[in-house]
Amino acid sequence: MTTAPQSVLRLATPADTSALADLARRAVSAKFEYLYKPEDFATFMEAAHSDAKVAKEIADPGMRVAVIEEDGALIAFCKLVLESTLSAGYSDAQRPLELKQLYTDPTRIGGGLGKRLMDWAMAEAGREGADEIQLTVYSENVEAQRFYHRYGFAKIADIEFWVGNHCDPEFLYARRMLAQTDGLAGAEQV
Ligand SMILES: CC(C)(COP(=O)(O)OP(=O)(O)OC[C@H]1O[C@@H](n2cnc3c(N)ncnc32)[C@H](O)[C@@H]1OP(=O)(O)O)[C@@H](O)C(=O)NCCC(=O)NCCS
Repeated sequence: MTTAPQSVLRLATPADTSALADLARRAVSAKFEYLYKPEDFATFMEAAHSDAKVAKEIADPGMRVAVIEEDGALIAFCKLVLESTLSAGYSDAQRPLELKQLYTDPTRIGGGLGKRLMDWAMAEAGREGADEIQLTVYSENVEAQRFYHRYGFAKIADIEFWVGNHCDPEFLYARRMLAQTDGLAGAEQV
């Protein structure tokens, strides 16, 4: 008899560094690489998704990095920055938190992993006492925008996102937290 694979959502540890950086590079490349000149994309990937950068983020007490692991492989992740710096001038939130990246393995899109991570992120924001969750999304990424709308996010500003020397139009999204317990129901604890 074969058993269905079990997946677990947990905080990343230093031992996850290379697997997480590899997953991030594959996921980001699959979604966005076609948009850019190779040199711009390479510059961006080195700055944002090198092993060294990921190791720093996992160790950062101002961040929380969550992964979903299945059969020893990482299949999805997201990163939280507990004190968002995105919204200066755009939001009057007092304690905004940033959802920095949310990706599944490219072969696992649409399988509910994103929902699990978003539920966890919202619960974590509630536990941290955040009054708003903020994120940025590429203006043409309508699939992700639909996903975020479902969780109550809305666009609050047009901003820019630089990939090497290439500037993209990007949207700043925000979602107010109603109370400390907002988002806690049904979320996985790690
Ligand atoms: C966005 C993402 C993390 C959502 O996770 P998921 O596990 O695919 O989502 P779920 O299965 O929980 O929910 C399904 C929803 O995901 C979104 N989605 C589906 N395909 C998608 C795609 N190719 N790209 C982005 N979002 C997608 C849709 O909103 C979908 O809802 P729908 O079926 O009603 O259209 C995941 O699709 C992903 O990694 N996409 C590519 C990378 C990306 O765009 N990340 C966000 C950067 S801001």
